[in-house]
Amino acid sequence: MRAQWAIRTEGLTKVYASRHQTYTAVYNLNLQIADGETVGFLGANGAGKTTTIKMLLDFIAPTQGRAWLYDIPCTEPRARRQVGYMPEQPYFPRYLTPRELLHAHAALAGVPSREVKHRVEVALEMARADGFAHRPIGKLSKGMTQRVALAQALVGNPQLLILDEPASGLDPVSRVEMRNVLQALKEHGKTIFLSSHHLSEVERICDRVAIIHQGRLLAFGTPEELTQQTDRYVLVAEQVTTDAERALRQLCSGVRRDGAQVNAVTDGERVYEAVALLRQTGARLVSVIQQRETLEEAFLRIVQQTPSTEFTGEKAA
Ligand SMILES: Nc1ncnc2c1ncn2[C@@H]1O[C@H](COP(=O)(O)OP(=O)(O)OP(=O)(O)O)[C@@H](O)[C@H]1O
Ligand SMILES: [Mg+2]
Repeated sequence: MRAQWAIRTEGLTKVYASRHQTYTAVYNLNLQIADGETVGFLGANGAGKTTTIKMLLDFIAPTQGRAWLYDIPCTEPRARRQVGYMPEQPYFPRYLTPRELLHAHAALAGVPSREVKHRVEVALEMARADGFAHRPIGKLSKGMTQRVALAQALVGNPQLLILDEPASGLDPVSRVEMRNVLQALKEHGKTIFLSSHHLSEVERICDRVAIIHQGRLLAFGTPEELTQQTDRYVLVAEQVTTDAERALRQLCSGVRRDGAQVNAVTDGERVYEAVALLRQTGARLVSVIQQRETLEEAFLRIVQQTPSTEFTGEKAA
């Protein structure tokens, strides 16, 4: 039976220490991510995302706390057998081609030799890296190298994918492609833990979102749980006369005509007045919808509500 939690951390803490200073990059992180979940790990630059990921993969040791992958302590090499990892800044041998690189990684991931060829082609295709799989990696663009990194993470057909900024350096079209790849993996029941700055992408594919700020987990929930209703109301009406449209501009922002319809945005205080105005002038009200925050707005609100904590300290002699 598979473990309940694909990723579990308890009080995970990393303090970087030099001779004169200590810096707490991650503090008391408690995460529980179920098998099959897609979780976005959001945080500003320097929030502690990569540090957390490095602890999960046992690249660096936590100062305090523990972590498990499928109930196996992260410190045990067998914990990584089910993991595909895409680093933030992939460095690959420049003279290898993506196909050669993947053959090597498939062997490292323990893919049986008779399956290697097939698995390499499947991973290249899934990551949309098959079109340049024969060119030396040193001659690929940043976005192409990102796709090779994803293919490398997929080649062992792992159940858990840990992806550090998978969309970084990708153009808008490639970002959509990346999202589609992740969506397909999600539909295959894979567990995905990805750090990202692209909040709209995360909002679309993640079941839950963890917000980390200055090393602390500030929020962890579904996008619906994290976002609140705003004081913004979007009105849509038809048969709006030019005079009514002019009057509407006094009460609303973003008034614009879209074919037969007029759209306008206002707040809770003026929405009743705007509706009354439309009624009085014989317009037909199509809808009034209170808007929810976007994940980006929720992220900014949550982060800005938190008083800044200074973790840097002079080290005791
Ligand atoms: N080896 C290190 N020694 C000292 N401090 C470090 C080290 N690695 C990271 N840090 C610090 O820890 C903090 C968290 O860094 P981390 O790389 O985890 O951030 P991040 O959330 O991944 O940021 P980004 O979005 O920029 O990738 C930063 O302040 C960083 O300077
Ligand atoms: Mg990082």
